[in-house]
Amino acid sequence: MASAIASEPTTRATAVQSVGPVSALSVQNVSMVFNRGAAAVHALDQVSMEVRDGEFIAIVGPSGCGKSTLIKLVSGLRPPTAGRLAVHGRQVMKPRGDVGIVFQSPVLLPWRTILDNVMLPIDVLKQDQAAGRERAHELLKLVGLGGFEKAYPNELSGGMQQRAAIARALVYDAPLLLMDEPFGALDALTREQMNSELQRIWSASGKTVIFITHSIPEAVFLADRIVVMSPRPGRVLKVIDNPIPRMRTLDDMLRPEFGTLVREIRGLLGSYVAGESNGSSSDW
Ligand SMILES: Nc1ncnc2c1ncn2[C@@H]1O[C@H](COP(=O)(O)OP(=O)(O)O)[C@@H](O)[C@H]1O
Ligand SMILES: [Mg+2]
Repeated sequence: MASAIASEPTTRATAVQSVGPVSALSVQNVSMVFNRGAAAVHALDQVSMEVRDGEFIAIVGPSGCGKSTLIKLVSGLRPPTAGRLAVHGRQVMKPRGDVGIVFQSPVLLPWRTILDNVMLPIDVLKQDQAAGRERAHELLKLVGLGGFEKAYPNELSGGMQQRAAIARALVYDAPLLLMDEPFGALDALTREQMNSELQRIWSASGKTVIFITHSIPEAVFLADRIVVMSPRPGRVLKVIDNPIPRMRTLDDMLRPEFGTLVREIRGLLGSYVAGESNGSSSDW
């Protein structure tokens, strides 16, 4: 397959040009500079990547390297300072219906039932209610929340709320799902369970997923390819293919190949970890 992500400016242009007809996501030489009064924050520097349809991509990188910024650019919430982003061949100009987003916190509305929370995008986008309701029921079953339709968010555990947020992101059937550290607030056991669930949901839905995480093992467990980013300004250091076959189980984390990948990524990021102070360094 010709799709590639290059980390060197000299090879980047060639790599991008050699990509096949239409990628699920194409990011070409994207840079982002925030102007905060007089001070400019250079968040992303010439980031390029091509993501195939149905692929699961994990992005790892130090705090502040621009991962969330990249998600905002892909979702059309902001325009890049330079470069071009396209989803399924169409340039991203504004927020659009073919992209679903899951944030770190589930942000469910406390006064709505779980079913009504999942239905929110259908209501907001004024889509067909009956079809939306049927789909919401199916998705709640898919994420293991069948029977909780009438419950309120505060009656559910953190993991269950996050699963409801995943169902909500899937309800309008966007082919591209962006997940920004969705399991960061969960305890280790729930997180492992959610990783297995997500692999199952991804495999059943056929969606393309861009998954941002601070946890290297989580990235290796979930992803087909892992994009390793540098500290700010975020650049693509390396894109690593993950040869571990699907469907993966938690036992696969004990395989030598798993350890080799984790070590490789840790090595790439290692020299930067000493500077991390957000309390999540144990994930590395
Ligand atoms: N709206 C904004 N205005 C100014 N600076 C921002 C804004 N959003 C993000 N930044 C800055 O851009 C950098 C990258 O942020 P972010 O994308 O959130 O990083 P990450 O998600 O990798 O931790 C940080 O230095 C952050 O402070
Ligand atoms: Mg972030």
